Parts: sequence; C-alpha cells; structure tokens
Amino acid sequence: MGLETSCDDTSVALVNDQREVLACEVLNQDSVHHAFGGIVPEMASRSHTEKLLPALESIMSSTGKSWADVYGIAVTNRPGLMGSLIVGVTTAKALSLFLNKKYIGVHHIEGHIASGFLQDSSYRSPGFFKESFVALVVSGGHTQIYEVRGMAHFQLLSESIDDAAGEVIDKFAKTLGLGFPGGAALDRLGQSGDPNSYVFPTPKVRGRDMDMSFSGLKTAGLRKIESLQSGEGISDPSHLAASFQSTVCDILMDRLQKAVVKTGLRKVVVAGGVSANSVLRERLAHWRNSSGIEVLVPPLRFCTDNAAMIALAGLWRLSRGETSDLNLTVQSRAGLQ
Ligand code: KG4
Ligand code: ZN
Repeated sequence: MGLETSCDDTSVALVNDQREVLACEVLNQDSVHHAFGGIVPEMASRSHTEKLLPALESIMSSTGKSWADVYGIAVTNRPGLMGSLIVGVTTAKALSLFLNKKYIGVHHIEGHIASGFLQDSSYRSPGFFKESFVALVVSGGHTQIYEVRGMAHFQLLSESIDDAAGEVIDKFAKTLGLGFPGGAALDRLGQSGDPNSYVFPTPKVRGRDMDMSFSGLKTAGLRKIESLQSGEGISDPSHLAASFQSTVCDILMDRLQKAVVKTGLRKVVVAGGVSANSVLRERLAHWRNSSGIEVLVPPLRFCTDNAAMIALAGLWRLSRGETSDLNLTVQSRAGLQ
C-alpha cells in the first residue's frame, strides 16, 4: 500500500509484486487552492486529513482486498510541505502499529522515478529497473536528473538551482489568465501556436554546465506578457504559450542529452507532472527515434503525483529488507541518495 500526501494531492494505492496497480485513488485539491493562485499549506494539510481515510476505505472496498493481503505500507516522508507530510506519515504509523504491518518512508522523487515501471491492465512497462539508467524528474516542485543504478543508488547529475520547470510554467500560465496550476491549459493553448514567434532566454549556470536555471526565463516570460498587455495587446496567446514551452523543453532536452553523453547510458526515464507536456513528449519521441536511446515516459496517469509510485518504490525497499520504525520523521527538504 502506498500513501502520498506530500503536497496538494491526497492519494492511496495498492500495487502488487508484478508492478501492477490494483487501485489508485488521487484526490486533487485544485478547487481548495484555486482562489488563492497557489497552494496554501494549512489548507492542504487539513484537506489531506479529511480525504485520506475515505480514500483508503475506497481502494480496499473497490479491490475486495483485506488487510491480511497487505504486505506493507509505504509513505512519502520527504521532501514536501511539513503539515501535509505529517498527515500521511502519522496515518502510516498508526496503521502499521495497529495492524502489525511493516512500513517504510519513501523519498518523493524516488517514487517519481519508480513510476516509469508501473503497469496496469492497459499498459505494460519495460522492466529495466534492475539496470542503470538516467532519470529526469520534472514537476511543480523539482527539476532534477539522476544516474540511477538498480533503483537502489541515485546520483544527482543536474538540477535547477532556482525555480522548478513546472513552477515557472504555472506562473507563466497564471499571468496569461489560465488559472492555477495552468501547465495542462498552457499545453493545450500552445498546440495551435507557432513556437518560433517569440525568443526567450535559456540561461546558463556559470561554472556548472550540467545544472539548470529557470528564474531568468520566468522573469523574461512575465515581462513579455506585461509589455504586450500594456502596449499592442496579445492578439494570439497561443504563440506565447508555444514559444515559452518550447524554451523550457530546449533547456530540459539539452541537459538530458548531456547526462546521457556523460554517463554513456542508453536508457532514460522521464517522470513528474511536466512530463505530461505534449511538446516534451514529442521531443523525447523524436530523440528516441533518431538516437536509438530507450526513452521511457510513463502514461499521464502515472506522471503526476500518485501513491502507486510510492507503493512500488517502497515495495522494492521492503523487499531488500529495509523498514522504518516509529521514529521516522518528515523532512521538508531532503536529497535523494
Ligand atoms: O508531479 P506533479 O503532479 O506534482 C509535483 O510534485 O509538483 O507536477 C505538477 C506540475 C504542475 O506544475 C503542472 O502545471 C504541471 O506538472 N503539468 C504540466 C502538464 N500537466 C501538468 N506542465 C506542462 N504540460 C502539461 N501537460
Ligand atoms: Zn511530484
């Protein structure tokens, strides 16, 4: 069983030892935070406390499983919003104590990487999780590239030194009037636009050519919208959407390709909410076809935050003999090792 409450999605899932998702409930809180234009941490944790146990009951009854069928419980304990993480971790501790089940704290990014290997009745994933590969995790909170060895060793190769790619996309979308979080809406809008209409910067990090920086791009994007709004007006926002997304993808693809050259690895996993982006998916598909590199991008339902990915990462840790005890704490910031 997986529990995920690190940010603003409440999720519970059951995954079996064939990497198959038996049930996965994801309750987003967009309606709770929408009016504020961003996530309000206190409201996120309160919403998790309201939604988590009903979601848990729902997946147990929909699968017809009993607690005797549950081998162990995996819970995201780092990184994330403190109050939100505490709801999941406290629930996992209580269940483990009361039902005498093993439990394990999982790093949220490790979950995103594991999501590449989830399967269900309509999707089979290649099983290279025991090998070495490069993983890009790109979401509203993270933009990182790792060298992963057998899902047990994670070496950070590249990261954003400031904003996450999804955060910048959301800010740009919000300023264009697409609401929050606006990544998917910006994606749809950009589909009819010309990506070469506007030129945005692709900032470099001095002395760290593998790392990424998105804050300069964010500022340039917002300034462009503001100057158009106060001047000639925005005649067709689809061109802005297409150009901005294309620039974000230029940065991501450049570092991902550098990571592949640096490691010599020929297998890649791309996960996290922004990997739902259609431009990024097209670029990745083109790269796969032209280079022969195996690029695995999970189906959209596994890309965004969900508890199935936490269950799978936790299952692998439990099966290696690792467990957490009741001293497990939550961490708002934590590297993945
Ligand atoms: O992984 P995720 O669900 O949560 C975090 O851990 O952040 O990612 C959410 C992010 C948001 O920034 C959202 O706008 C973005 O993923 N996103 C997209 C798309 N769908 C979701 N960004 C670009 N294109 C999309 N189609
Ligand atoms: Zn995430």
